[in-house]
Amino acid sequence: MTTPPTDHGFGGTAIMMRGITKRFPGVVALDDVSLDVRRGELHAICGENGAGKSTLMKILSGVYRPDAGTLMIHGLSARFTGTRDAERAGVAIIHQELNLVEDLSVAANVFLGRERRGGLGFIDDATMEDETARILRMLECGVSPRARAGGLRVGDQQLVEIAKALSLDASILVMDEPTSALTEAESARLERTIQRLRERGTTILYISHKMDEVFRLADRMTVLRDGRHVRTVDRAATTPREITGWMVGREIAGHSFHEPRPRGDKLLEVERLTLPWPEHPRGYRLSDVSLDLRAGEIVGVAGLMGAGRTELLETIFGVSPPGWKGEIRIDGRPERFAHPSEACAAGIAMVTEDRKRLGLFPDLDVAGNVSLCSLAEAARGGLLSRAREEALVAGPIRDTGVKTPGPHAAITGLSGGNQQKCIIGRWLLTEPRILLLDDPTRGIDVGAKAELYALIDRLCRRGMGVLLTSSELPELLTLSDRILVLAEGRLTAEFSRAEATEHKILEAATG
Ligand SMILES: Nc1ncnc2c1ncn2[C@@H]1O[C@H](COP(=O)(O)OP(=O)(O)OP(=O)(O)O)[C@@H](O)[C@H]1O
Ligand SMILES: [Mg+2]
Repeated sequence: MTTPPTDHGFGGTAIMMRGITKRFPGVVALDDVSLDVRRGELHAICGENGAGKSTLMKILSGVYRPDAGTLMIHGLSARFTGTRDAERAGVAIIHQELNLVEDLSVAANVFLGRERRGGLGFIDDATMEDETARILRMLECGVSPRARAGGLRVGDQQLVEIAKALSLDASILVMDEPTSALTEAESARLERTIQRLRERGTTILYISHKMDEVFRLADRMTVLRDGRHVRTVDRAATTPREITGWMVGREIAGHSFHEPRPRGDKLLEVERLTLPWPEHPRGYRLSDVSLDLRAGEIVGVAGLMGAGRTELLETIFGVSPPGWKGEIRIDGRPERFAHPSEACAAGIAMVTEDRKRLGLFPDLDVAGNVSLCSLAEAARGGLLSRAREEALVAGPIRDTGVKTPGPHAAITGLSGGNQQKCIIGRWLLTEPRILLLDDPTRGIDVGAKAELYALIDRLCRRGMGVLLTSSELPELLTLSDRILVLAEGRLTAEFSRAEATEHKILEAATG
């Protein structure tokens, strides 16, 4: 693209990348990518899952070294050998995956490796806690700096990751899907923080699969496809449709899910479910929640962070502690699952919001992760045959559109969105009758989302029932036949598809 007249030499350029190439076994993640980022702009990087966005940002922040190409930061040549080098040059990154040390406090995580020390060289907890509290306040986050990081919910952990990057006071901040685990209200808070950083002149690189967010925030955007630079444009000169077109290189089939699906029997009934929470003043995580789900139906559960959406799904799935009251019936029979394996045996599957903690097995390859819950199928005579496993996982890998060099590639080498697709594929392989989806498309690109929606719709037509939560209201509105709203552990509203609007849902969710 042409350089604008304001861009004189290095004066206006924060980052200059030329011919960046990065290979991994079996894939060229980046192929000769060149990119200029102006000082003080918010520059969005767009592309499908596996396009190379995170890899490019990891090169910029010193996590990876490029195989070829050069990088200049504020006019100086940069050859980073690690993230510390990048930090010294003023570059901080908020990674797509959560990286907190679970057993350390929030403040200790924020200052990990850069602990503040007092006069005698002792670690100065008080200063670090004060500083952390100040940043968390700026993020409008109520978490205590002394809280154990591992005990926080995903959304709060994400805010701690953000606090960690902010504590570096970097002149260049890379945000790799910072809002993928945040609810709309938390994302709005983050946007206010971003605004403040921009007023201070921070240059921001921003990755998100949420197009509305990108169009609200970005000055310019760059599209990557299959590791190549496709286009860099001014936001004002383009549209979401055009960007999506460059991302996927084809038109995305618009699919209408409004074609009525046949309704079957009641698969799931929840009656007056109460989940105690003694250590909280409210006393419960869920109170008096009742709902039902029929075959062929998709029921959405909306609510803000902490409303109890995840807890509701986890209780049904047998993850929650056994102290809950009320009744859960599957096919009319009361059940109290003590463990997810019992729920699986009863035909229930759950895709969780936190793939790192609950979903992904880093020591298994792609096929191993997908076939994990269908091992009885894959194992014959006690031995897992490689060929049978490959045959078993071929379907789900194709249906969910996982981009991988092969079934036996390392799961940790897959891009974030493709890891999530593997987990969805794993559960589809168990052919569940009841599918619990907890923010399932977190980090999945627009094209793949449309394909997944179509897949879920097809399975529901064959008699599956789905209970769905999402931090993105448009997703709930697109898929659900009915939407229930939770606020602080209680059901506050139910809307049919025809009645539901974003406004009404938000109103009910905020009580
Ligand atoms: N450590 C690694 N080992 C092997 N392959 C990798 C590694 N990191 C990335 N890749 C591969 O490089 C390509 C680009 O991945 P990258 O994570 O940059 O994608 P992305 O654009 O961030 O996607 P997403 O939207 O899913 O996060 C993918 O094919 C991925 O499998
Ligand atoms: Mg990524």
